Amino acid sequence: MTGTQRATFHSMIEGTQEDWARIAQAQMPHNQQLADRVLDHLRLLAGDYGGFAVDRLTHSLQTAARAEQDDRDEEYVVCGLLHDLGDTLGSYNHAEVAASILRPFVSPENHWIVAHHGIFQGYYFFHYLGGDRHVRDRFRDHPWFEACARFCADYDQNSFDPDFETPDLAHFEPMVRRVFAEPRTLIAETQGTAAAGNEPEAGAQKAAEVPATP
Ligand SMILES: [Fe+2]
Ligand SMILES: [Fe+2]
Repeated sequence: MTGTQRATFHSMIEGTQEDWARIAQAQMPHNQQLADRVLDHLRLLAGDYGGFAVDRLTHSLQTAARAEQDDRDEEYVVCGLLHDLGDTLGSYNHAEVAASILRPFVSPENHWIVAHHGIFQGYYFFHYLGGDRHVRDRFRDHPWFEACARFCADYDQNSFDPDFETPDLAHFEPMVRRVFAEPRTLIAETQGTAAAGNEPEAGAQKAAEVPATP
């Protein structure tokens, strides 16, 4: 972008309609490239085994493949693909990282599943690491408890299999592009506390202190 296309203000309080027209114009292509940035970030999980039998990208691909084979819809499959996207930067809260990126583009239920999968997945291993495998029970009365438990049981906890016929990321790329094509909700809505049915955040924060994993 050339200098003439940039806003002139140095403090937002000096901003003008013209400034914001320029910024909005620059933002459009940036937003349209979000799927590319997400896919690039997902590729960072390749080669990172973290002690598991498959690397984190393979785990993500297997999770998505199992969901697809189970006839889950495209949005759900993409959530499966991206559920551990936060592993690179969110070492202590990876589920929240992925959930935040997906939140404008997916249903409140799918967002909740991704946001809480770390705690629910803990059912399979927290007790081996000095934690409580039943910590997810604090959400037992939540309407999406079973949905999140199913995600972990059917697609996530079983996707560490080197012998699984794992599709390439290219197989899922068109799905990612379609899901990220248009946000369902805008920033003012997603940052509201109840807009995405995400009310049990306090419990999520606490449980995120237990060891992080896929
Ligand atoms: Fe995870
Ligand atoms: Fe996972």
